Formats: sequence, C-alpha cells, structure tokens
Amino acid sequence: MFVLSSSLARVLTVVGTLLAFLLPATSADASSPLRTHAAARGKFIGAALATGPLANESAYRTIAATEFNQITAENAMKWDATEPNQNQFNFSGADAIVNFATQNNQEVHGHTLVWHSQTPGWVQGLSASAMRSAMQNHISRVVGRYADNAAVVSWDVVNEVFDDNGGMRTSFWYNTLGQSFIADAFRAARAADSNARLCINDYNVEGINAKSTAMYNLVRSLRQQGVPVDCVGFQGHLAIQYGFPNDIQQNLQRFADLGVQVRITELDVRMQMPRDASKDATQATYYRNVVNACLAVTACAGVTIWGFTDKHSWVPDTFQGQGAALIYDQNYQPKPSYNAVHDALAGGTTTDNTPPTTPGTPVTGTVTSNSASVTWPASTDTGGSGLAGYNVYREQGATDPLLGQSTTNSITLTGLTPNTQYQVYVRARDGAGNLSGNSPTVAFTTQSGPGGGPCTATGTVQNQWSTGYVVQPVTVTNTGTSAISGWTVTFTLPAGHQLTGSWNASVSVSGQTVTARNAGYNGNLAPNASTSFGFQVSRPNGNTQTPSGYTCA
Ligand code: G3I
Repeated sequence: MFVLSSSLARVLTVVGTLLAFLLPATSADASSPLRTHAAARGKFIGAALATGPLANESAYRTIAATEFNQITAENAMKWDATEPNQNQFNFSGADAIVNFATQNNQEVHGHTLVWHSQTPGWVQGLSASAMRSAMQNHISRVVGRYADNAAVVSWDVVNEVFDDNGGMRTSFWYNTLGQSFIADAFRAARAADSNARLCINDYNVEGINAKSTAMYNLVRSLRQQGVPVDCVGFQGHLAIQYGFPNDIQQNLQRFADLGVQVRITELDVRMQMPRDASKDATQATYYRNVVNACLAVTACAGVTIWGFTDKHSWVPDTFQGQGAALIYDQNYQPKPSYNAVHDALAGGTTTDNTPPTTPGTPVTGTVTSNSASVTWPASTDTGGSGLAGYNVYREQGATDPLLGQSTTNSITLTGLTPNTQYQVYVRARDGAGNLSGNSPTVAFTTQSGPGGGPCTATGTVQNQWSTGYVVQPVTVTNTGTSAISGWTVTFTLPAGHQLTGSWNASVSVSGQTVTARNAGYNGNLAPNASTSFGFQVSRPNGNTQTPSGYTCA
C-alpha cells in the first residue's frame, strides 16, 4: 500500500469511475471504484446516506453512486421519520434513499425498526398491549412498503437491545414489554416480508467480550425457538485512541457458525482532533483490518461505512474534540483510509467471468390468490466470487419481469394477481454479477379472488354522526379449503367521503377506492377462520351514505 497525494488519488478515483462505466461490470482493475472490487469478492461495500446532502450536493451524490453498491439510510427510515404521529406515515426520506439506490443498482439495508432512540414520545407512553400493537403495526407498514421492492433486501429489526455490560438495556421497550418484544418484532418483520434478511444490530460487539457473548447467546436462543433472526450487525464505531479489537475475525466466525449472516454495519474510526499524518495512517490500518476480517469470513456479507465524508458525520456532534472518522475529508478528497479500504478489497481480486450453473427445475408449494412458494435445485459457482443468490422471472415474451430475489433456493412470491396463470423460471447470480442460464419453467395458477374466491369481507357501521362514521368490524373470512397467508380487501367510498384513520390493516386510497391489506400479524387465516380491521371516515354534513362493494382476494 502506498499513500497517494490527495489530488492524484482523486484523479484516479474519477478515472476509475469512468472506467467502471466503460468496462464490463466484472472487470476490477486497480483503479476501479470500491464497489467493483467488493463485487468481485462477493461482498458489498456500503455507506450510510443522509437525505439533506443527497438532495443538495452533487459531489456527495456522485461518490455515493459510484463507490458503493449498498446503502443504509442514516436517519430516514427511523421511527421518528417514518411514523412521527400514530398511524401517520411519512416515507418521503425513505423513498428518496430507495429511489437513489434503485437508480444506481445498489441494495438497501433498512435501519432501523425498533430502537430506544429516535422513537417519538407517543410510543413511549403507551400501555403494554397498545405498545405491542403499535410496534407490530409500525413494522408491518414500514417493511410492507418495501417488501416487493427489489432494492430493499434487509432490515435492522432491533437495534442496541443490550446495555454496555451485556445485560438487557432497560429501555422503555424492555420495561413495558419485557424481552418478548424482540421475538415479536422479528416475527412481525418476517410476516411483512418473507424474503428480507432480518438482523439484530449493536455497538461494542466487534470483539469477543461480555456484551458480544450476551448477543451470541441471545441469537442462539432465538434461533432455537424458531425466531427468524437471519443476520447479526456489528456497528464498528471505533476510535484510534481505544485500540483495535484484534479478535474481530474470530468473533464474526463464531456468530457465522450459528448459521447467521454477519456484516459490519456502521464502520467509522474517529480520532482526537486535529488530524495529522500519523493518526491518518493508524486510522487507515483500522479500516483495512476490518475489511480484511470480513473478507476472511465467508458468511460476512460486507462492510457499511457510517457516512463517507467528514463533512457529514455524527461524530463531532457526539464526541467533543473528536472527528475525521471517515474515508473522505471535508472537501470530498479521499484519505489514506480510502486507499486502505480500496487496497484491501482489491487484494486477491481475480476477474470472475464464469456464471453459476443453471438452477434445476422449480416446483411450487403453497399457492394462494396472491402468493406462491417456489423451490428449485441449487446452483453452484466456481468463478471465485461465490453464489450471491437467485432471480425469479415471469415468462412473458419479449421482456420477462423480475418477480423476486432470494439468497436461498426458495422464495415466496407475493403481490400476485388472483386467478392468473404464471410461468416462472430462475437464474442464479454470483458475486460479480454474472447470471446463469434460465432454469426450466414451472407453471401455476393463483386461486380465484373476488366473487367466489377464497375469502369474503363484510363491513358493519358501528357508529355514525352527521359528518362521519366508523366501520368496525370489517370481517375477513377465509372461505377456501386451504390456509391463506395474506388478503386484500377493496371497497368504494361514496363521493365526498374521506378516510381519516384505520387499524389492523395496511390501507391505501386511490380516488374513492380503498385497498386494505393485512397487517403483519393478521394475514394468516386457516379455512373458515376470520379476522377484522376497521376504519373511520369523514363525510359531508348530512350525507348518510356508507361504503359499498367489499371484495376480498
Ligand atoms: O432533523 C433534525 C433537525 O430538524 C434539527 O434542526 C437538528 C437540531 O439538532 O436535529 C436534526 O436531527 C438530528 C438527526 O441526527 C438528523 O441530523 C438529531 O438531532 C440527531 O440526534 C441525529 O443524530 C443521529 C443519531 O443516530 C441519533 O441517535 C445521527 O445522525 C446518526 O448518525 C446516528 O446513528 C446511530 C445509528 O442509528 C445507530 N447506531 C449508532 C449511530 C451513531 O449514534
């Protein structure tokens, strides 16, 4: 490794960026951006992004787009941003992050669903049963919004549930609900997105210590109980004055041996200001060692840096007199730590042009009116970058739409149309982006929906007044002979009526048509079983009409 002068390094970065567009995606020469080298190693290299500079600064956007293949929202997906008031959701910042990632072929890690910080006061004051429902509703709505979005692949379901000594943090979640909120949160997230990778995330757990051992024991016990914990996030907020956790690779490996994916989620390396060359060099060593630890552990998916430029970092606001924690300086010049990350990712790079083998013939499992589970014989990859996952397409003629992605050899496709024939096939992809041939297709027909389908919905006006009314319950019944794992009810509001609230369903309105989808916790219905949701409407004074045309699919 040698340290480039900052201007030369910047020129090389720009040249590398241009080359990355001109050369095939699999080519990773020495000057390529970080993401090209990371992809060639089958890993992601990510950054946490803030929506302000993303909207306002082109240098920020350019580096974010060209250097990273994974993004985490630094703040935009947290509870205070997405649900500031109960059941009033605001996805403007979250959507900005997801749209940016989609435009730049990046994956998104959702951060974070259940945390003691940045959660509005209204949540903290709820009774136990109301708090549990609010948590499940929040998870259902936030995860559910992106469940069909190919960019959003993983979530921090719970964040920082341990105190600094490895006991449970006595947060308002724990004090009100006990430890069960953790398992409930994971189950709600799985119900909202059957394919997302679900993570538990914490700080000061990079090395082997009392806190990381408590986390290890919790993850093992949750998985033994069948709680869907797929992944463990190690934040990695390091400081050069406190030393490097030398057993980080060993620690990652012991978690990996539990069968979970591991990842570095929030890496930064702060120092006492002012910066100097010696501190920069030490910092670069820390960055290189973390990246190498992840590279050495097969189950480590990648490394996310918590920001990328010292111009936008949480560190100076939190640790007085400390800063310069990131890999670009305040003026968007790469620092020695950028070169360290780059060289670690580039070391041992071999160009992988060999696609994985073609998956075997898929077979279907449960098929409902709007979902289908599909499994296929797995592929293998010998090109060096490793098998990254599978894409599932619908055979449709000229352009076959991507129905979903999975990191395993099965998937539950959701959002399907009732009473419709689908022919689907699978392609495997490796860490360098090579796609296999198409598997043979499998055909299935979703169950019929409204009008004789497997579910019905009826709404009852519970209470009305001159300018509004409450419909409760809307009873949803599975009238089929097999279990369903989700339902969609539509109905029509009379002209001039406006929905003002809803509960126990995820509701959207288009014109006068209301679409209510199951929440994370009430989608599964055995034959003849029922569940319900409710909603409130305002209407012109004196108008006595109520909604009509309830259909269920
Ligand atoms: O948006 C408001 C703005 O309207 C207001 O004028 C300003 C005044 O203080 O505050 C702004 O909100 C700030 C927010 O970041 C957005 O910039 C909050 O005060 C500030 O507390 C918040 O800090 C975030 C911090 O989490 C909160 O705990 C940091 O940006 C964010 O980097 C940090 O990230 C956490 C991870 O989520 C979890 N792990 C630790 C990590 C570092 O603390």
